[in-house]
Amino acid sequence: MPSAPKPTLTSQLMRAIDSFAFPLRTSHYVELVNPLWSTSKLQARVIKVWDETKDARTLTLKPGLNWRSHRAGQHVRVGIPIDGEHFTRTYTISSAPERNDDAFTITVKAISDGKISPHIVRNIKVGDYLPIGLPQGDFFLPDAQPVLPLFITAGSGITPAMSMLRSLIARDRLPDTVHMHYAPHELDVIFAAELRAMARTQSRYTLHEIHTHSYGELKQSKGYFNAEQIDELCPDWRTRDVYACGPPGLMAALEQHFDNAGRSQYLHIERFLADFAAIPADAVGGRVRFRRSATDIDASHDMPLLRVAEEAGLNPPHGCRMGICHTCNTTLLGGAVRDLRTGKLISDVGSVVQTCVCATAGDCELDQ
Ligand code: FES
Repeated sequence: MPSAPKPTLTSQLMRAIDSFAFPLRTSHYVELVNPLWSTSKLQARVIKVWDETKDARTLTLKPGLNWRSHRAGQHVRVGIPIDGEHFTRTYTISSAPERNDDAFTITVKAISDGKISPHIVRNIKVGDYLPIGLPQGDFFLPDAQPVLPLFITAGSGITPAMSMLRSLIARDRLPDTVHMHYAPHELDVIFAAELRAMARTQSRYTLHEIHTHSYGELKQSKGYFNAEQIDELCPDWRTRDVYACGPPGLMAALEQHFDNAGRSQYLHIERFLADFAAIPADAVGGRVRFRRSATDIDASHDMPLLRVAEEAGLNPPHGCRMGICHTCNTTLLGGAVRDLRTGKLISDVGSVVQTCVCATAGDCELDQ
């Protein structure tokens, strides 16, 4: 587990001075001077933006007080203000914890029909302040026993692997590593120059770029993951721990392959999206009541309650939108909901409901 942030001299001093600033906190005055000095909320200043590809951008963020460094592979919640509305998304940290400037990077790929990621890629600029959370997640290499990694990544799923590779190289601890990376074309490979330089200069790092689209085609037409491909590119895959991140189709193919081979325990997956189970044919939607917001709305059996709330004009708290961060948790006050990942019904009043991965099952009432 990540350790709690260590109090710095500045934060200890701020706490002592707080007693004179009551009922506000010193932090509230100080953040008017520099938002990064606030101890009441964590923010980061954008200090650099860098275009990795035509639709992927790296932001370098300088976090404020109370930040704690991440483990390579972890993610962070980032608040994005757009036209007076506040959105939150979770992004993997792409830099190594060993950076010596107390900054970190996130690398965001614009989703063509999305709202938040295109805004980040096109509009966020140096000098902007963004609210952030602390690093979270358990997708990282173990400290205790060294492993031989096989990274299998696709698109922006490269970010956790990049953080791990940068960290291993910074510590001079890179073991024999194979990396299979999927991208539509050569020019779409995020971190391409650095990856290719690593492949040239690090004798223990082997990179296989797999380009999945023919020019002029919008859909993947080649390069699909399969048994022959992994046998050819990484013949010793049965001796390795696999760290994979990418779209649901690739993750499903990997799960199937490693399950068939009896090696599921060596497959570690970080997902972009929650993996939803099949919904029973007799599932029904119903009326959802958000009690504290005094809002009622009809909802289908398969729409996550977070989206239902947003479509009703509410702005509920959320982070990853895929069942990881628990920022969207609320309490069930009546009726039933279905966990879309498992298909299981939740009907005990008082149960915790993760609204980003649960849908109503008949009528339900939530404490939101
Ligand atoms: S938003 Fe992260 S668990 Fe729901």
